[in-house]
Order: sequence, then C-alpha cells, then structure tokens
Amino acid sequence: MEWIRPLDEENFYTVRGDFTKDETLKEVKDLINGTAQVVISDAAPKLTGIKDIDTIRSTDLADNALTVCDHVLMQGGNFVLKVFQGGEYNNIINNIKERFKVVKTTKPPSSRKASVEMYVVAKGFRRMF
Ligand SMILES: C[S@@+](CC[C@H](N)C(=O)[O-])C[C@H]1O[C@@H](n2cnc3c(N)ncnc32)[C@H](O)[C@@H]1O
Repeated sequence: MEWIRPLDEENFYTVRGDFTKDETLKEVKDLINGTAQVVISDAAPKLTGIKDIDTIRSTDLADNALTVCDHVLMQGGNFVLKVFQGGEYNNIINNIKERFKVVKTTKPPSSRKASVEMYVVAKGFRRMF
C-alpha cells in the first residue's frame, strides 16, 4: 500500500492504515471525536489487470467506505466515492441510495474513457443506526 505524504498544516491530521480494519476506523473516530461532514474515498485496489478481480476488489473497498460513513458521517453529511463498474457495482449504488437523499454518478473528463472507474456523489446522509 502506498501512503499519502503528511501535510504540515496545523488543522490537517493523517491516519496511516487500512481503512477496512476496525483498528483504523477506531483511530479515525477517536481523532475526529464526533462526526464528519464528508467522507471522500479515492481508494482503489492494486490492479491485477484481470477485470473481474479488480472490479470485485474495488466494489469491496466501496462497501467498506460506506461502512466508514455509517460510523462517522453526520446526519445530512455527504460522500464522494470512486468505484469500478461491474461486479457488485449496482448493489453498491443501491446501498448508497438507501442511505442518502440524492445520489449522482459521474465520470469526469480526467478519467480515461477506457477505464471502468466511476465517481459517486451522494448528499444528505440518513443515519441508519
Ligand atoms: C488512486 S490511488 C489514490 C491516490 C490519492 N487520491 C492521491 O492523490 O495520492 C488509490 C489509493 O488507495 C489506497 N488504498 C487501497 N486500499 C486501501 C485500504 N484498504 N486502506 C487504505 N488505503 C487503501 C492505495 O494505497 C492507493 O494509494
């Protein structure tokens, strides 16, 4: 896994860890000590070149990012997610729709046409528990 370089700003904190692990999520929760206004995931798996495997791994990461929302996102909060189309993609979108008032998918011009990646913008989180 590649790590993001820490930034020097006073109001910027970095947690280095696998966000699918409970201990990383706990570290994030302890750090923000409350709820977050937004969760953004640009996470992607290390590509194998085998489409089915890469897609399943991407949708699995997306599912875990949604779990992060369940734990830290405030009522009415927003979520931005990168996820590959295919595999569990439709289920992921449906799960996001269950939790957010407005859900839009987009493919920005910077994303290669041949790539299956999509970006999801979800607004108005409804806390389920
Ligand atoms: C497309 S890159 C994101 C690049 C990032 N937006 C940047 O500008 O540096 C995908 C990143 O997801 C990270 N990643 C994949 N699975 C992860 C996980 N379970 N926990 C934390 N990061 C993960 C990878 O290490 C990789 O750095």
